[in-house]
Parts: sequence; C-alpha cells; structure tokens
Amino acid sequence: MITINENFLNLQNNYLFSTIAKKVDDFKLKNPEKKIIKLGIGDVTRPIAPVVLEAMHKAIDEQGNLETFRGYGPEQGYEFLREKIAEFDYARRGVKISPDEIFVSDGAKCDCGNIGDILGTDNVVAITDPVYPVYLDTNVMSGRSGNYNNKTGKYEKIIYIPVTAENNFIPEFPKEIPDMIYLCFPNNPTGTTLSKEELKKWVDYARKNKILILFDSAYEIFISEENVPHTIYEIDGAKEVAIEFRSFSKTAGFTGLRCAYTVIPKELKVYTKQGKEVNLISLWDRRQGTKFNGVSYPVQRGAEAIYSEEGQKQIKENILYYMNNAKIIKEGLQEAGYTVYGGKNAPYIWLKIPSGLTSWEFFDKLLNEVNVVGTPGVGFGPSGEGYFRLTAFGTKENTIEAIERIKNMK
Ligand code: MLT
Repeated sequence: MITINENFLNLQNNYLFSTIAKKVDDFKLKNPEKKIIKLGIGDVTRPIAPVVLEAMHKAIDEQGNLETFRGYGPEQGYEFLREKIAEFDYARRGVKISPDEIFVSDGAKCDCGNIGDILGTDNVVAITDPVYPVYLDTNVMSGRSGNYNNKTGKYEKIIYIPVTAENNFIPEFPKEIPDMIYLCFPNNPTGTTLSKEELKKWVDYARKNKILILFDSAYEIFISEENVPHTIYEIDGAKEVAIEFRSFSKTAGFTGLRCAYTVIPKELKVYTKQGKEVNLISLWDRRQGTKFNGVSYPVQRGAEAIYSEEGQKQIKENILYYMNNAKIIKEGLQEAGYTVYGGKNAPYIWLKIPSGLTSWEFFDKLLNEVNVVGTPGVGFGPSGEGYFRLTAFGTKENTIEAIERIKNMK
C-alpha cells in the first residue's frame, strides 16, 4: 500500500500567498466592477531591463544555430555568471568568494526549501517570528517541526524568536540553543535590518555553538543606509557557519524568469551524529547534481547582463522607483496616523494595525472597503498578529491611489 509523507498533514492552512490569492479571486468574482490594487505578494511590476532583454535575445538566437547551440548546462550554473557574481556581489565589497562556492538556481525560495535535504531531520530549527513562511513550512514537510499547537499557534519543536517593535526588531538569543537558524536581512516581512555589530553577535554565537545560519539576503539591493551588511560574509568567521541565499527576483525583476544563487563557502563544516566533520558544499553539490539540471542558458545570460556598468545602472533605476513607492506608502500612512516600520532598506512596509482588529480582519476591511490587498502579519507567524505588510512593488500610480484610499478609509 502506498503511503504518504505524513508530515504534510501537519501543515496549517495553505501557503500564505495562495490563501490570499484565493480570497482576492473570490472577491473579484462577486465584485467584478471594483478596481483592486494589489500590494500583497512581493511581486515586481517594472519591466525587465533592456540589457537583460538584449542578452536573452542573443542567447535565444544562439540556440537556433548549429555552432552555438547548447544542451544541458553545468548544474552549478555557467562559469560566466558565477564569475560575475563573485566579482560584483562579493569582491567589490571586499569579500572573497570563489565562483565554485556559488550555485546558480531557479529561485531562493526553492533553495531555502531544498537545503533541508542535506540536513539532519532531528536538527532543532530556529526562526524569527514573523518570518517568510517557506522556512517554517519546509521544515514541517521534512519532519523537524513537531506537532502544531492550536493554542499558541506554534509548532512544538520549532524555536520562535520574536522580532517586534518591543525589541526593535532585533532577534535575541533563544533560551534553548538551536542547530540551525534562518535569518533574513533586510527582513521580509518587517522591512527592518541588522547592523554589522548585531549580525556579528549571531555569527559569534553560531561559531561557539556549531550552529548553521541560513542567511536569506534576497533584498540586499534595497539597502540604502551605512553600517548595514550587504552580505553576511562581511562578518569575520561567517564563512565557517553561514550559507547565503540571493535572488535576481527583486534585484532585477526576475520573478517570472527565475534565477537565484546560493553561496556555500568551502570552510563551512557540518557534522555527522558521531561528530565527524563534513564539508556542506560537497553535499549540496551532490544534491544539485542529482536533482537539478540547471537554469536555462538564456536566463543565465540575462542575469549575467546586469553585471556591467550599464546593467547596474538600469536595475538600480527600478530599485529607486520601488523605494520611492516605499516612501509614498510610509509617509502617507504616517500622515494618516499609522505607526510604520521598514521601507528604508527594504521594499516592505510593516504597519501597526490600529483599533484592536486582528490582522486578518484588517485584511478583509482593506479588501472590502477600499479594494486594497496587503498581507496580514499573522500569516508570517504569531508575533505578526497586530501588524500588516504592504509592498512597494506596485506601480507608482497604484501605490499613490492605494494610500489615498487607505487614508480616506473610515
Ligand atoms: C513575499 O511576498 O514575501 C515574496 O514575494 C514571496 C517570495 O519571494 O517567494
């Protein structure tokens, strides 16, 4: 008899953004005349930069030519892309990462989930709370979570580290020492960051306790302030304990094209149950070689194209566009009396919900009364209750209109 992975029955509800999409579709069906403005899922709206399009067109043409046709590419990604990443994203920031420590993939979401394949299922997992739901759900799927407690809204074996206005969104060390911890900075969903000093505390803690840090840096390009680390490897010793996930989705508008990368330094050691050291990079290489056939050639050529002076200029124009939206949201909401966080080094604005509504009630109110879609804080974890997330990824016109509607909401 065929049986299932019963861990999947332990998942709560649907994936957050699927639930929201369903609610919005239902509303649309009942109210076809309403103009809905979506500031929910962090999906980009600016078109792909011209340098990327040009590179992809050229790559497609190469595929139609006997001399330049390419079949399977290297599972780890083409060297031409990995070399540019090592130079632009690391060497130019004074960090030495070698191209063979970089693994190109089709998304940071997939990598954040897939990495669990090579880690023991009895590791104790810590997440910040609220958190990008993928870290939690994928650990539930692989059996690291324990049972769900309806009263607390938490899984029994997961360590939740609150990041709220009360602690200035700075995670504190938990009472119990985990084996692996997910850190995402600039943070999704709160839009806040950690200073170098704060991040160093986590690197030192991980080194002392042999913990793996899974550092999600998908929003790095939005950093505008000094003293916010652009990569965890700016911190001494981080290569011994941290994996870094990066993505072209928000950086260069690749949500529909799909390209990302993960860095696993050669120094990073993990252990067998008997305490024998193993290089994590060799396990990931083995995993990718078996389960992944790489990102398509034209997409990798497109990603490569952002690593030129002109490419950097073009993608940064889009980033400035989104960050101007963030300013519009932040200032507009502040004028309307809301307390807001984030939006300075990240495309997310995290607002405190007034008047005692739950975050799902506020979601419904916004959808029904002013036809604006956001994301309820509790969808990111129990400590997200009482908060709400808006993204800066809409068009400028829609962003202005959405904020006007919210300002005028009764
Ligand atoms: C979000 O809205 O949190 C992100 O867009 C989701 C993702 O990147 O997968």
